[in-house]
Amino acid sequence: MTDVEAQQAHWAATFAAHPEMYGGQPSAPGAYAVELFVREGCRTVLELGAGQGRDTLAFLRAGLRVTALDYAAEALAGIEQSAGADAERLATVAADVRRPLPLPDASVDAVYSHMLLNMALTTPELEALAAEIRRVLRPGGLHVYTVRHTGDAHCGAGTALGDGMFENGGFVVHFFDRALVDRLATGCTLLDLTPFEEGDLPRRLWRVTLRREGP
Ligand SMILES: C[S@@+](CC[C@H](N)C(=O)[O-])C[C@H]1O[C@@H](n2cnc3c(N)ncnc32)[C@H](O)[C@@H]1O
Repeated sequence: MTDVEAQQAHWAATFAAHPEMYGGQPSAPGAYAVELFVREGCRTVLELGAGQGRDTLAFLRAGLRVTALDYAAEALAGIEQSAGADAERLATVAADVRRPLPLPDASVDAVYSHMLLNMALTTPELEALAAEIRRVLRPGGLHVYTVRHTGDAHCGAGTALGDGMFENGGFVVHFFDRALVDRLATGCTLLDLTPFEEGDLPRRLWRVTLRREGP
């Protein structure tokens, strides 16, 4: 099993053991993104690393059309079940974000991810993913993402894997520094960077809001 397959299997097993791992309510950045996307007139959202869908369901409830992508296929099936009548505005895609995103150029109004970019993704993989996100976003479209950063209590703990990554409890996390945020903003305007905390640890994160420059 490769390191990537091991991470994928670890997520699948963790979700199976914890049907509401992050709770059923939208996250704070999810609630922020719903408000922002609706205010900006967005209709279509691509959510990367949707997991069990706490934020996917909030986007759907707000009337948005959502493509939810994750490599944990069973978690995606659970979102479809929970969506009820809103499922007609939901498409799920089981895919690895290391591969090109399976969407046409300039086809979505907004891209969102909560704690996906800080997964086991190397800096070159993140740069390729950022380029893919710019490709699928329409000019002027919004990109909101969150990442754990170098001020997080787990940064430096566990096994150092290089390139800012540490393995702790079976999960690999890439802790972002500010230079990485700026590097991934190429071709976009950085509208906002807000620190926040989540959970009991607590996880220390940044919420980043970008606008794709056009055309
Ligand atoms: C920390 S969880 C966050 C889940 C969800 N965004 C939330 O906040 O509730 C990270 C998610 O990213 C997914 N993931 C990690 N690496 C991935 C990859 N290379 N491709 C696709 N999904 C990935 C995992 O399966 C998991 O659902």
